[in-house]
Amino acid sequence: MLQLVEQPDPVPGEGQVVIDVEVADTLWLETAVRSGAGQDYWPMRPPYVPGNGVAGRVMRLGAGVDSGLNGRRVVAHTGNEGGYADRAVVAADALSSVPDGLDLTVAAALLHDGPTALALFDITKVSPGDAVVVIGASGGLGVLLVQLGRACGARVVAVARGAKLDRVRELGPDAVIDSEHPDWLAQARATLPAAGADVVLDNVGGGLGEASFALVAPAGRFSGHGTPSGRFAQVDQTTADRHGIVVTGIEAVQMSEDDLKRYTERALRAAVAGTLAPVIGQTFTLDQAGSAHAAIESRAVFGKTLLIARI
Ligand SMILES: NC(=O)c1ccc[n+]([C@@H]2O[C@H](COP(=O)([O-])OP(=O)(O)OC[C@H]3O[C@@H](n4cnc5c(N)ncnc54)[C@H](OP(=O)(O)O)[C@@H]3O)[C@@H](O)[C@H]2O)c1
Repeated sequence: MLQLVEQPDPVPGEGQVVIDVEVADTLWLETAVRSGAGQDYWPMRPPYVPGNGVAGRVMRLGAGVDSGLNGRRVVAHTGNEGGYADRAVVAADALSSVPDGLDLTVAAALLHDGPTALALFDITKVSPGDAVVVIGASGGLGVLLVQLGRACGARVVAVARGAKLDRVRELGPDAVIDSEHPDWLAQARATLPAAGADVVLDNVGGGLGEASFALVAPAGRFSGHGTPSGRFAQVDQTTADRHGIVVTGIEAVQMSEDDLKRYTERALRAAVAGTLAPVIGQTFTLDQAGSAHAAIESRAVFGKTLLIARI
């Protein structure tokens, strides 16, 4: 259950700031954690304020914080909680300035998906001309992976389903495959070079992710970082080794704070340059956070889902 409650305004501690939040990011993961899943990794117990990141303006400074930050437009990761709020407290060191002219909504949409997408391309060493398959291309992350693939001159095969296929097509991939078609794997293979895909990026996991491993060419790369289907793809390491395929998973995109900040700033620059343009499929107000989670869980969303705190 998600409820809007009033709390006293937070007071920043030493080295911290309070952000006047305009937009809060949401993640599929937050719906899983809210349902009580993954307590070993995310041991939050209700009542707590969900949300991992916000965009807004710095409105209060704690002791020792550079006064030049006052009023600055910023994005920040809030840790595992605290983002679904109109005031968020974060360490001043964790702030990334939003470039002039870049909308705070776009910055919020990139806060998680942007760094992850850029890191995945680095990890799997995507190069111009590579054939890249994106499983779950309709999600927040999937949309950006398709865009990055196109921007770097890769051949992009986007896998999604149902009514979302037309919207994925608008992103301009070289091929779009319906994962609900019984022959989707053969159809995907037919769009690839004879050896297969250089890179498969699996945002979904489960049986779909596992089946997609068969598309990877010898000496290719497979990233199984997705779980919306209920579990990560389980890939047979012996088979991967035999074909010289490098398999990475969620651990590869769990970044240090420094790396996260570096990639966040890279993602904001990529947005200014037009390489990354998140598709904000739907927004909700803070008091509709429960509806936002319900929409994500029922797979009714496209691209990024955000909460607007300023209404
Ligand atoms: N976003 C990040 O920064 C980040 C970082 C690390 C790891 N990840 C992981 O990457 C995955 C994708 O993240 P995201 O932010 O892109 O999530 P998202 O926006 O919610 O997208 C989820 C994708 O999975 C599909 N999907 C949802 N439920 C499904 C189900 N039950 N069976 C099969 N497919 C399903 C969706 O397609 P349909 O709607 O058509 O079903 C959509 O394409 C998640 O597992 C997330 O934890 C994300």
